[in-house]
Amino acid sequence: MHRSPAVRGRGITKSFGDVVALDGVDLDVASGQVHGLVGPNGAGKTTLLGLLLGLAVADSGRLEILDTPVGRTLAVPDGVAGFVDGPGLYPSLTARQNLSALASLRRYDAGRTADVDDVLEQVGLTDVADDRVRGFSLGMRQRLGLAAALLTKPRLLVLDEPRLLVLDEPANGLDPAGKHHVHRVITGLAADGTAVVLSSHRMDDLAALCSEVTILATGRVVFSGPVSKLAAESGELDYRLLTSDPAAAHRLASETPGLRVVPGRDPGQRPDADVVVRGPVPALDELVVRLVRDGVALRELGPVVAPLEAAFLALTGTGTVPAQADQEDQR
Ligand SMILES: Nc1ncnc2c1ncn2[C@@H]1O[C@H](COP(=O)(O)OP(=O)(O)OP(=O)(O)O)[C@@H](O)[C@H]1O
Ligand SMILES: [Mg+2]
Repeated sequence: MHRSPAVRGRGITKSFGDVVALDGVDLDVASGQVHGLVGPNGAGKTTLLGLLLGLAVADSGRLEILDTPVGRTLAVPDGVAGFVDGPGLYPSLTARQNLSALASLRRYDAGRTADVDDVLEQVGLTDVADDRVRGFSLGMRQRLGLAAALLTKPRLLVLDEPRLLVLDEPANGLDPAGKHHVHRVITGLAADGTAVVLSSHRMDDLAALCSEVTILATGRVVFSGPVSKLAAESGELDYRLLTSDPAAAHRLASETPGLRVVPGRDPGQRPDADVVVRGPVPALDELVVRLVRDGVALRELGPVVAPLEAAFLALTGTGTVPAQADQEDQR
């Protein structure tokens, strides 16, 4: 099936006074694609998403959304829904009232109970539909924000247009059930042809949801492409080995061509101490062969930092991982 681009941005620049928030950014998002934006704090993610939502205009560059060039006036382009910097909600109203108010405000043919109930159900908020938003947790607010964005869908379907959903950190503050709901909603929309552009600080979330990612660092694109290609960008990784004989493992690792033992550990001190090595996968294979040949049992072997996060660190030059997800999350 031919899928027209939902977003085509070229050389987009946006400054706030002396701060260059976006510096010649290109962005391509196909219909039906979930595209992730990632980058350190202040990289320009929210600024870029704001341009897609018509909340600001670029200083220079070209931006086409759903085949329509974006002009100089502030307006939400037709067929686009979403939020940046957290959804705007009325704390004194219930979840249901917030959605109904929003629907009538935007003069959708919605506000219809069926639509409101449907989106509440999709994000898993049916049980708290009649509770005031004031008492909602961060994750519940995020889910309600997604429900609000989803309310536009009926109108968009009527117009039979390609659609674009823009979400700034939609998974922020979500518990596992909330994450599951949000992931399912996003994946479902994409399968129906909606393009989704979302930002996240979590590489594991992006890997689970997105087919393509754009990495921004201080307003510039440092990587754009498939997630699978990103993992390959990480180059040589550090691997942690847990063996029955750390001292022997240390010696064998330092003798294996292409491998380097990462210093800072003293394998002689503890019987269960690990050894950290750096090198390409074939050299690691060779080490495993040597360990086994010398009767050293290999108990654990894995990258110290997950490949996607290692790529992120290398590309953005940051010393911190966007979110140090625990090992289980990364699988
Ligand atoms: N309205 C504004 N006025 C002045 N400076 C701004 C404004 N909006 C953004 N900036 C600046 O532009 C840069 C990019 O900000 P942006 O909010 O887009 O980053 P971000 O990638 O979303 O960061 P975070 O991960 O913290 O959400 C920052 O240096 C920020 O201080
Ligand atoms: Mg932001």
